[in-house]
Amino acid sequence: MNTPLLNEINTVCWRGNSDGHLEILDQTQLPTQITHVVCKDVPTVVEAIQSLRVRGAPAIGIAGAYGMVLAIHQAIHLEESSEKKIAYIQQRAEDLATSRPTAVNLRWAIQRIESLILNAGKNPDFLELSKAVLDEAKCIQKEDQRLCEKIGEYGASILPDGDILTHCNTGALATGGIGTALGVIVTAWEQGRRFHVFADETRPLLQGARLTAWELTQRKIPVTVLADAAAAHLLKTGLIGCCIVGADRITANGDTANKIGTYGLALLAKAHNIPFFVAAPSTTFDLTLQTGDEIPIEERDENEILQPFGFQSTPATARGFNPAFDVTPADLITAIITERGIIKNVTIDTVAAVISN
Ligand code: MRU
Repeated sequence: MNTPLLNEINTVCWRGNSDGHLEILDQTQLPTQITHVVCKDVPTVVEAIQSLRVRGAPAIGIAGAYGMVLAIHQAIHLEESSEKKIAYIQQRAEDLATSRPTAVNLRWAIQRIESLILNAGKNPDFLELSKAVLDEAKCIQKEDQRLCEKIGEYGASILPDGDILTHCNTGALATGGIGTALGVIVTAWEQGRRFHVFADETRPLLQGARLTAWELTQRKIPVTVLADAAAAHLLKTGLIGCCIVGADRITANGDTANKIGTYGLALLAKAHNIPFFVAAPSTTFDLTLQTGDEIPIEERDENEILQPFGFQSTPATARGFNPAFDVTPADLITAIITERGIIKNVTIDTVAAVISN
């Protein structure tokens, strides 16, 4: 297979001024094609998020924030009162915030933009507002880049020797920077550490096989892809020094929602006495929820299971079970690596000590 290379991975990119548009690298086409989706309105952004053209907790937050610039621009062209324009913008904010339910970064980013809109008053200059929202969206993206760098540094400092097993995709494709879990791997590699990365293919949509393997190939870091079901066997070989994954939402007690299969991997790591790390920015924590039982888990179309990538793999009458995420209990997590520091012995107190200040 021909794997195209990119100089820079521009996952989400705003083009032009506040009357410009959002350009999204279409991750459903990777690794065979590099194509972009041009978003000029909110429904196109919502579709891109729901169909995973853009995915990964921080990246959908960034896309949502830029989507709000489009919302204001659409409102400017409505022949309506300020009140109705604001109501229209609020509705588009809700469309974006609810387009995927599990990753808290999405709602977090939209709320940050909404408070800017609220502060502008009841009769704002909408053009000025769209400029301010664009600046804020760019700021969220830039901040995420810095958070990834910090997570990379902290994570590399505790990464044990040995090969590394990861799940899903947590790199530049999923964030505004080098990534979270993958950012730790990349930072350690750039510091001169040498290891082999094993990437779970990550059924059913193959984010590990298609995206993580592609990113690591871009960076010339050796990668081997395995079927998710091969993880237990791999861990038993003794090759793996640690597992490291990202997160979509972390509750006050440290329970962590991440891509389906993460919980199983954490159980396997525990059984084989292998450290299991979660790497995530503070924007992925939701301290309003006490435990992982409260996290909404996205259920996706059963056809992603029954007809993977259009290939009918089951009898016609079989039904599919397709939760996109699962929750790993805090006691299976060796440490959570954040940009604010490393949370060891993950409990409600250790999470609060690092995150709620
Ligand atoms: O369904 P996806 O591909 O959006 O799921 C992504 C994940 O589960 C990632 O591990 C998580 O969002 C962290 S990305 C830095």
